[in-house]
Amino acid sequence: MASREITIKYEVLEHYRELDIRDRELVRQAFEVCENAYAPYSEFKVGAALLLSDGTIVRGSNQENIAYPSGLCAERTALFYAGANYPDLAVETLCIVAKGNLIDKDKLLSPCGACRQVMAETEARQRKPYRIILVCQNDQTLIFDSASELLPLTFGK
Ligand code: THU
Repeated sequence: MASREITIKYEVLEHYRELDIRDRELVRQAFEVCENAYAPYSEFKVGAALLLSDGTIVRGSNQENIAYPSGLCAERTALFYAGANYPDLAVETLCIVAKGNLIDKDKLLSPCGACRQVMAETEARQRKPYRIILVCQNDQTLIFDSASELLPLTFGK
């Protein structure tokens, strides 16, 4: 029997203000749209802002529902909107932020499994990796060069 190990690579910044001006604009927009979250059940607001290859920024926030599984995460709201409206443009960067007590402020913030699956398929579809910026609630910022880093052994073709 063989044993294998998978490592994932990302960069860590102590604060998102260390990002360059373009990335900081995405962070700003993600925080802005985070306020539009409809999250009366979890009280956990998530914002996602993604930059498309023509410079367009598409934004999403989590939208909950009293029938819980009917709600949708912020990342998928933004990615599906981009797919629906800009099917020919590639995603270059996706930034995700969140606010709320559901996750401890000093804990790493990271997308749920379903969002990772959609993020991975977006990358496969466009045949081009894109960057993912995760801003934790303590401002620590993680940067991944590809969605595949976040979901090794992805289900897919
Ligand atoms: N949520 C997101 O928007 N993105 C994730 O990756 C994980 C969770 C939302 C779903 C729900 O509205 C709230 O955060 C609490 O789980």
